[in-house]
Formats: sequence, structure tokens, C-alpha cells
Amino acid sequence: MIKPHGSDTLNPLFVYDVDKHHALQKEAETLPSLLLNSPAASNAVMLGAGYFNPLTGYMNIADGLSVAKDFKTTSGLFWPVPIFNRTDNIDAIKDAKRIALRDPNEEGNPVLAIQDIESIEELTDEQLNTMTTELFTTTDGEHPGATTFLNSGKYVISGPIQVLNFSYFQKDFPDTFRTAVEIRNEIKERGWNKVVAFQTRNPMHRAHEELCRMAYETLKTDGILVHMLLGKLKPGDIPAPVRDAAIRKMVEVYFPPNTVMVTGYGFDMLYAGPREAVLHATFRQNTGCTHFIVGRDHAGVGDYYGAFDSQTIFDDKVPEGSLLIEIFRADHTAYSKKLNKVVMMRDVPDHTKEDFVILSGTKVRKMLSEGKDLPPEFSRPEVAKILMGFYQEQAAKS
Ligand code: ADX
Repeated sequence: MIKPHGSDTLNPLFVYDVDKHHALQKEAETLPSLLLNSPAASNAVMLGAGYFNPLTGYMNIADGLSVAKDFKTTSGLFWPVPIFNRTDNIDAIKDAKRIALRDPNEEGNPVLAIQDIESIEELTDEQLNTMTTELFTTTDGEHPGATTFLNSGKYVISGPIQVLNFSYFQKDFPDTFRTAVEIRNEIKERGWNKVVAFQTRNPMHRAHEELCRMAYETLKTDGILVHMLLGKLKPGDIPAPVRDAAIRKMVEVYFPPNTVMVTGYGFDMLYAGPREAVLHATFRQNTGCTHFIVGRDHAGVGDYYGAFDSQTIFDDKVPEGSLLIEIFRADHTAYSKKLNKVVMMRDVPDHTKEDFVILSGTKVRKMLSEGKDLPPEFSRPEVAKILMGFYQEQAAKS
């Protein structure tokens, strides 16, 4: 099986030993507390679940800057995105060595993890702007990810953590949320060797479905890991439970049994386009996948990134050998009215734009809000029905 990133075995930061877990839970109640923001909480969940192997906790400013500028920590580990715990208020923790990290996304703010504080540093405006520009290519207030990053706190609290639960993800998505450890184990149990992972924050329309099928057939993999984001999204994106239902239905109807694992991970969307594509690939290696699909405008938002920047970044910024997982690069994919099937545009050079059925996300939302059916060339009827149900419910509420 493919090795995790940066180590021979996966080292999740969740405390699995029951006695140790119990003792830490008790200790946490005696420690000074910090209420995390959502990005820091989702970092803890990813660290706990083994996705961010081999990191042992939150980065300091030097590592964050090094990662943002050079894609590596100060000790030379390849890593694409700073993994921070940031806050604006350190009053309760500034003299502490060990603190309880409380979950902002759960009622009553239970303890999510315990952190040993290595340093508390204050970010300068220049450092914050440099990192934001490196990560998102902009500091524009209209960019949802850059805005969140800019406003996540001026103090950086670094140090190792021990994770005590997986926040709301396990409870809200019991059939879908999986740790990297669980996915590795299931891949092994299924006897799969070659596995292609598919990232998504959307319901899977026909282009998404076909991308998975094409990768599966072209690469001759043993299976497909559909791995959806379950954390926070910008307004307008489809909520995870609706997307989960739509994806499950599509897989059930249109893929043979035992070819697809439908799973999800607990992380907030960054909208960092190419950067996020590299992070996505890195943590899919930790799940044991050998290949990762990157298509058009991967993890993009608005017009901030070129359609294929998320592919070329692997040539420009990922040194040979840094990652073992291989990238399956997909061209723009859409239904061809000429051939009556979904195709990659590079495979049909004789086609013009008019030969394809292409709908923007905005158009899809507008149609569904107005109760108009999506064309079957764009979306499977079973998927369209679930989405329509959601949009009509929304319309009835407003
Ligand atoms: S993402 O933010 O998670 O990347 P989305 O769920 O829409 O958004 O896309 C999932 C994956 O499918 C990404 O790799 C994206 O590039 C790819 N993709 C989505 N639609 C298309 C398309 N029409 N043609 C090619 N690739 C696509």
C-alpha cells in the first residue's frame, strides 16, 4: 500500500487508548481554555484523523511562512498550506504551558483537543498579507477563503496536540465521515491496491460521475474513493447532507457494486484553488489512495484562478518525489450533443462550444430555485430530484 506522506506509518493525533483518553478528558477540565475558531477546529479534526500526517500539531509563524512561500516547513517537510491555531484573544492562556481547545461548532463548546504551547507569536500585517497572497493569489475582501484567513486572528499558537473527538462530523455524518485510518483499513480489507480519489464539495453531476469513471477505466484502478468535504462552505454552496444523499443515490444507481467508497472528511473549504489541490492530493495519499483526480477549476471560486492552474501547480511547485500519489489530470468534461455522451473536450477536437451542454453553478441554482428541472444531459434525474427537493424547501421557508 502507498506510504503516508512523510512517514512509514500513519500517526493520527486522536488518542485511541481508552484510559489515556479518559485521563486527558479529566485533565482538560482543569486547564486554561481557548475557544477555537472554525478553521483551527477543522485543522484539529484533520490532524486527529491522520489526514495531516506527519504533522504533530499547529505550526508557528516561521513554518507557516515557509510553507506559504516554499511549500515546505523549516525542517524541510513538503507541505502546501499553513496549519494554524490563531486567535485574537490570548488573555486566558498567555502564561499557560498546556491548554484545552474548545469546539466552536458544538453546543456548550466541549473540549476538542489539548495543546502544549510551544510559542504564542503575533503576526505582522506584512506576514499576514504575504501568506494570504501566496495562498489565495489575492487579499480581496470578496474572496471567501482569503477573507476568512485574514480574519482568523493575529496571534499564532503553535505546538503539538492530542485530539479527543471529531467534532460534529461523526455525529452528523455517521455513514460518511471517515478518518484516514479508517479509509486505509477499508481499502486494505477490500483488497484494493490502486485507488483513485475524487474530491468534491458539490453534488455529483454527470461530468463528475464520468470523471470518476474515466479515471477508473483509464488507470485501471481497483476502486474509486469519493471523498467529499463535510465542513463549512460559502453561502450558496449545497449543504453537505443534501450533497451526501445525492451522491449516494448516483453511486447506487450508476456504478456497479463494490467499485466506489462514498466517504467524507471534516474540513472547512479554503477556496484556495491550486494550493488547495496540492493539500487535497497530500491528504489523499494519507488515506492510501494512489491517484487523485484534478479537473477544471479545482477548489476554485469566482474568476480568481485559471481553469487549469490546479494542475500546472503540480509541475511548478511540487518537487519530484515530494508526493507519491499521482495526479489524474482531467480536461473540461461535458455532455456532447453530437455523441450523446459525456466526454472530455480534449478528446473531441472537432466540437465547438455549442456542441456541449454546459450549465454554470449560478444557472443551476437559478433553475432549481425557479422549480425548473435540470436537463438529464447535465444531471441524473435521481440527483436532480434530490436537489430540487432541497431548493423547493428553501423557497418555501423564505
Ligand atoms: S471542488 O471545489 O471540490 O473542486 P467540485 O466538487 O465541483 O469542486 O469539483 C470536484 C472535482 O471535479 C475537481 O477536481 C474539479 O476540477 C472537477 N470538475 C468539476 N466539474 C468539472 C468539469 N465540468 N470538467 C472537468 N472537471 C470538473
